[in-house]
Amino acid sequence: MTALTLQSISKSYEDGDGRQVQALQHIDLEIARGSFVILVGSNGSGKTTLLHVIAGSERPDTGRIFLEGEDVGTLAEHRRAASVGRVFQDPFRGTVAEMTIEENLALAACRGRRSDLGFALSARVRKEIHDRLAALGIGLEQRMHQRVATLSGGQRQIVTMLMATWHRPHLLLLDEHTAALDPRSAELVLSLTGRIVAEDGLTVLMVTHSMQQAVHFGERLIMMHRGKITLDISGTEKLRAQPAELESYFEELHRAELLDDSVAALLREQYI
Ligand SMILES: Nc1ncnc2c1ncn2[C@@H]1O[C@H](COP(=O)(O)OP(=O)(O)O)[C@@H](O)[C@H]1O
Ligand SMILES: [Mg+2]
Repeated sequence: MTALTLQSISKSYEDGDGRQVQALQHIDLEIARGSFVILVGSNGSGKTTLLHVIAGSERPDTGRIFLEGEDVGTLAEHRRAASVGRVFQDPFRGTVAEMTIEENLALAACRGRRSDLGFALSARVRKEIHDRLAALGIGLEQRMHQRVATLSGGQRQIVTMLMATWHRPHLLLLDEHTAALDPRSAELVLSLTGRIVAEDGLTVLMVTHSMQQAVHFGERLIMMHRGKITLDISGTEKLRAQPAELESYFEELHRAELLDDSVAALLREQYI
C-alpha cells in the first residue's frame, strides 16, 4: 500500500526579476507505507517546495497528490494537517514559546477534536502527556509546567516532534529539522526521531543536508536537482552508499550545470 503518490507535480515561482523559476518539474513519486525516505539535494533544488506541496501549504501548478489513496489535491492545508505531520528547521517555529510544554502538547492532542483546551487538559490528557514525555527518557516530564521558552533548541525540536506525531500521521515530513542545532542536540533529536518513527511505524520523508545522516538513516534515498529527481536508490544500493560517493555525485551534477550554463552563455553571445 502506498502512503503517498505524486503524479507529475510541477510548481514554478516568479523570481525578483519576473523570471519563472521551475521549482518542481513533473515529479512522480510513490512512497510505500511504513518506509523511511531520505531526501537530499543542493540549495534551491526544490526539496522544501515539494514538502509544501505535499502538506498543502503550496498549490502545485499541475499534477495530482494522493495520501493513503485519497486524492488530497483540493484539500486545504488544515484539512491535511491531521494526516501530515511536519517539523521544520527552525526550532522556534513548531511550538508556542510563551505556553508551557504541557499546553503545547495539549494543543496537538486536541487538534482536529471537537474540544477546547479546558477539555484537553483533563486528567486523562495530562497523564498521557506526562507518560509520553517520560517515555523519551530525557526528563522533560519534570518540566511540563515550564514555558517552552526555557528549553534549548534541541528540546524544542523534540517537543515539536512529539506534537507532529501525536496522532500518528499518515506521513511525517521533516525539513532539515536538525540543521540549526549543535552536533550533540542534533544527534539526540535524530535518535529520538528514529525511535518515535519505529515505535509508531510511521512513514517518513526526511530532508537533510548531511551526507552522514543520508547514508545512516532511512531505507531509501532520493536526490533532487533543479526541480527533478535525479537519483532514487533503495535496498542494498542504499545500504552500500557512502557519503563521499554522494558528495562526488553532487559535484558532478554541479559541474554539468556549470558547463550547461557556460555553453548557454556562449550560444547567447554568438547568436544574439
Ligand atoms: N515563495 C517563493 N517565491 C519565489 N521563489 C521561490 C519561493 N520558494 C522557493 N522558491 C524558489 O524555488 C526554488 C526551490 O526552492 P526550495 O524548494 O526552497 O529549495 P530547497 O529546499 O531544495 O533549498 C529555488 O530557486 C527558490 O529560490
Ligand atoms: Mg529547503
